[in-house]
Amino acid sequence: MSIENFTAYNPTRLHFGVGIINKLGKSVSKYGNKVLLIYGKGSVKKYGYYNQVVSQLESSGMSVVEYSGIKPNPVIEDVNKAVELAQKEQVDVIVALGGGSVIDTAKVVSLAAGSAIDGWQIVKGNEKPGHAISLICVLTLAATGTEMNAAAVMQNHETGEKLGFVNSLSFPKESFLDPAFTLSVPKNYTAYGIVDLIAHALEAYFGEGEPSLTDRITFEIIKDAMEWGPQLLNDLNNIQLRANIMLDATLALNGLTQYGKKGGDWGVHAIGHELSLLYDLPHGATLSIAYIAWLKIQQDRIPDRIKKLGASLFGETSVDEIIDRLSSFFSKTDSPVSLSEVGIGEDQKQKIIDQMNSNLVSGMYHKLNDEDRKKLVELML
Ligand code: NZQ
Ligand code: ZN
Repeated sequence: MSIENFTAYNPTRLHFGVGIINKLGKSVSKYGNKVLLIYGKGSVKKYGYYNQVVSQLESSGMSVVEYSGIKPNPVIEDVNKAVELAQKEQVDVIVALGGGSVIDTAKVVSLAAGSAIDGWQIVKGNEKPGHAISLICVLTLAATGTEMNAAAVMQNHETGEKLGFVNSLSFPKESFLDPAFTLSVPKNYTAYGIVDLIAHALEAYFGEGEPSLTDRITFEIIKDAMEWGPQLLNDLNNIQLRANIMLDATLALNGLTQYGKKGGDWGVHAIGHELSLLYDLPHGATLSIAYIAWLKIQQDRIPDRIKKLGASLFGETSVDEIIDRLSSFFSKTDSPVSLSEVGIGEDQKQKIIDQMNSNLVSGMYHKLNDEDRKKLVELML
């Protein structure tokens, strides 16, 4: 047992509930008159969320310019184009309508356009922005927690990197979470969202520091998702279940699970990012594959920590059994637990090892070396 010093800060105003979008226009108008609306590849138009958002903005007297087409696992090129538009149109405020990819893009745009600094230099941490254009989020997919945190993740295929960064200027000013906006999320992405939120809780749990209360809170978030997640996957139109998972996802990565800790580990996310970069796999799918392999690597190094988790989640203290139970849970949600399940075979082994070695994939707390990375890839296949 030890006491870790920590600082807690979260300024995002969160609006949660059915019909909450009716407060959007009034809220956004506090930040200016000219809006840059950022969204993805079309689901928001297909399901009517776009119309609701635009009518809120226009009826509150705002003019709207748009940047759309953000892809899952977003790329820096879109940031650069949206920054140009934001600067040319001199927008006062950015509204992001979508999931993690759209919101993360909007976060980098708000920093880069607000500070006149190149977006990738911000992602790399080479330059520190001093100002951000105010960002308001309307979330359409429960998964990442980006709606209430200061992190963003971006891909750059030129440099061969998918990188996350945290900057306190990136907290959204306000976020609107209507579970009805997630009713249309297809089954596979609903499952990946459940895996992602559980992975966030696990990354926090396996980070540095073992505060008793925070461990318990973290277990409860995972248990809630494990109870409601499978039910939701059999009943995608159930708004109550959508709301349960939406709240789980936000609380798994808004700072709550970091109280009393130096920080999370994030080694599994680092592995997952390399897989997304190479094969454009959905983020959550990379995590169900990587977590099982990572736990097998760690099982002799941190058995007590794994046993404490297993005792709470499954009433089980055999490390092998705990890893099996988690793997079965992921499989039950139809999320992959091996690369072969997503069509990636032995012939890709060296390529993945080289990619992981070139970016020195590791955790913040549980460090991984070349030998670990090789074993991880073998375990993932
Ligand atoms: O592009 P559209 O047409 O909108 O379709 C999207 C996309 O194809 C679709 N979708 C979203 N909302 C929908 C919907 N389809 C129907 N109905 C809706 N309501 O879902 C697909 C996936 O969207 P995406 O935004 O990529 O998913 P997610 O929210 O899982 O975000 C993943 C990204 O977030 C990063 C990941 O690395 C990945 O790049 N992360 C960000 C974090 C953060 N900022 O804190 C933490 C996470 O660990 C994660 O790394
Ligand atoms: Zn994640």
